[in-house]
Amino acid sequence: MRKPIGIFDSGIGGLTVVKQLMKLLPDEQLIYFGDTARIPYGTKSKRLIEQYALEDAAFLMQFDIKLVVVACNTASSLAMDVLRRNLDIPVVGVVEPGAVSAAGLTKNNTVGVIGTTATINSGSYASEIAKLDRNIRVLGQPCPLLVPLVEEGWLDDEVTVLTMRKYFKGLMDNHIDTLILGCTHYPLLEETIQRVVGDKVQLIDSGKETAKVVQQLLAEKGLLNISGEKTGEDRFFVSDIPAKFEEIGSRFLGRPLTNVERVDFDQFLVQSGFPANMHKAENNLANMR
Ligand code: DGL
Repeated sequence: MRKPIGIFDSGIGGLTVVKQLMKLLPDEQLIYFGDTARIPYGTKSKRLIEQYALEDAAFLMQFDIKLVVVACNTASSLAMDVLRRNLDIPVVGVVEPGAVSAAGLTKNNTVGVIGTTATINSGSYASEIAKLDRNIRVLGQPCPLLVPLVEEGWLDDEVTVLTMRKYFKGLMDNHIDTLILGCTHYPLLEETIQRVVGDKVQLIDSGKETAKVVQQLLAEKGLLNISGEKTGEDRFFVSDIPAKFEEIGSRFLGRPLTNVERVDFDQFLVQSGFPANMHKAENNLANMR
C-alpha cells in the first residue's frame, strides 16, 4: 500500500525512531510531526499527555496515513489506550517492543529502565514485562536531565557522565544486566551510557525494536509498499521554529535535514475544532473521520 506512515513525538527525539524506520523500510514515505512548541511531555500529567497525543495524531491523519508510530516514550506510556480507541488505523508505540526485547535478553531477571519522570511513574515498562514474565524485577529510574543535555549536544561531556553516574547508582547497586533506553533521546547517548554501566549490561534501544514491529505489522496486514519505489518525499513538521530542529535533527538522523516545515498548530487545532479539553478532543477526532 502506497500510503505514508505517520510518526509523532513531543519534539526532536522521535527522529531516532525515524532513523531506524528509514533503515528498515527505505521505500516507505514517512510523515513526522514533532511538537516542539509543547515539549517536554515527560513532566506533564496523564490527562494533558493524552490530549496532546490525540491532537498530534489528528494532525497526521490529514495525510491519509496507514499506520501511526508513537515515537515518544512518554506518550506511549500514557496515551496508547486513548489513541487506539480513537484511531481506525494501527497504532504502534515504543514501550511494548522495548519490553519484549528486554524480557527476552535478561539472564539474571533484573532489568533497569531509564526515561522521563512521567514514563517511569507510569510503570508502563514494568507492566508490559510482567505480562511476559512475572519473575523479572524491573527497576525504573527517571533521568529528566538527560533530555536537555542531549538537546545541548553534550553527548559525552563530563557533566553528562557525572549526571549518569548519579542517576544509575541505584540500578548498578541492584546488578541490572539489561537497561532499557526508555526515552527517545537516549539512543544518542548510547556509547556514553555503555561506558558508564560497563559492557556486562545490555542496552535496549526501544526505537530499533519498534521499527522491527512496524515492519512485521505492515507485512502481516498487507500494508507494505511493495511497488519497488518510494511513493513520496519524507516530510517533517514541527509546531515551533525549525532552526534548531534542523541542526540537532541532522545529528540525530546522521544526514542533513533541511526540509522542515513549521505548522501553525494552534490554527490547526482551532480549524479542526479542537478545544483544550481531552474529552472534546476525542469527539472531534471522531468527527474528522
Ligand atoms: N520524547 C520524550 C520521551 O521519549 C522525551 C522528551 C519529553 O519529555 O517530551 O519520553
